[in-house]
Amino acid sequence: MKGIILAGGSGSRLYPITKVYSKQLTVIYDKPLIYYPLSVLMLGGIREILIISNEETIPFYKQLFNDGSHLGIKIEYAIQAAPKGIAEAFIIGESFIKDESVLLILGDNIFYGSLDFLYKGIKNNDGATIFGYQVTDPERYGIVEFDKDGKVISIEEKPQKPKSNYAVPGIYIYNNEVVEISKNLKPSGRGELEITDVNKEYLNKGNLRVEKIGRGIAWLDTGTPEALLQASNFFGVIEERQGLKVACIEEISFYMKYISKNQFESLIDSIPKSLYRSYLEKVLREY
Ligand code: TTP
Repeated sequence: MKGIILAGGSGSRLYPITKVYSKQLTVIYDKPLIYYPLSVLMLGGIREILIISNEETIPFYKQLFNDGSHLGIKIEYAIQAAPKGIAEAFIIGESFIKDESVLLILGDNIFYGSLDFLYKGIKNNDGATIFGYQVTDPERYGIVEFDKDGKVISIEEKPQKPKSNYAVPGIYIYNNEVVEISKNLKPSGRGELEITDVNKEYLNKGNLRVEKIGRGIAWLDTGTPEALLQASNFFGVIEERQGLKVACIEEISFYMKYISKNQFESLIDSIPKSLYRSYLEKVLREY
């Protein structure tokens, strides 16, 4: 399965931070935001990853991750010229996806907690697998309606009168049909190729699975200044309390055995003296 991180967008709600700076490069506690979705893909066993962003920002991601080989993964890059919708990722990524299935995660979505929902989704997907997460502000999201047996009956994008509180988080798993489906979409009223229209297409074909995610998982999306602060505080508390880092991609690649102990040592050597490096040295010592 291939992985895509969609990390473009206009980030207008974070102006002026995003006047010169991509949202996904802003800091969540002690590392750039994009480390969090990247770590989810890596933990899901996905090692071929395409980062899609605008032309100005791609060089910064390259500076951060290069080709990913130091992490035992393969990272490629592609440009989305303008934020024309989440589903455009599958058109831009067609030659990267080839004939495989694909997991798309939005570059500003953070998941924290047991990732069993994801492992199960990756293992069992045969059409589309998306997730449902209860929120207090359903008007802002794609919303799933279930019948009394838990079967999905509708999905609506940003409904004025939401039929449930189950929002669809920015993590989606599709079989290879998603490329053709996306190519046949018409832009919505706001001029975007909507991911909700992709999901509706799978729903109509009887090929959409929606897994509910419970309260044991934190799903944070980081589109506003308050949300950025909350996410930083959240991970600050957890990391301080446990002395363990969340979304530390170097640790994850060692833990997942994507790199050997020797490679991990040289990776640490390449990092400037910092708390981050001391943390990785501790991980190595305690291995
Ligand atoms: P949004 O939160 O919908 O939009 P945004 O990031 O442009 O911010 P704002 O609403 O403040 O203007 O996007 C969700 C994520 O998807 C975010 O990581 C950006 C990304 N995205 C793209 O990369 N390309 C797109 O065409 C769209 C619609 C979103």
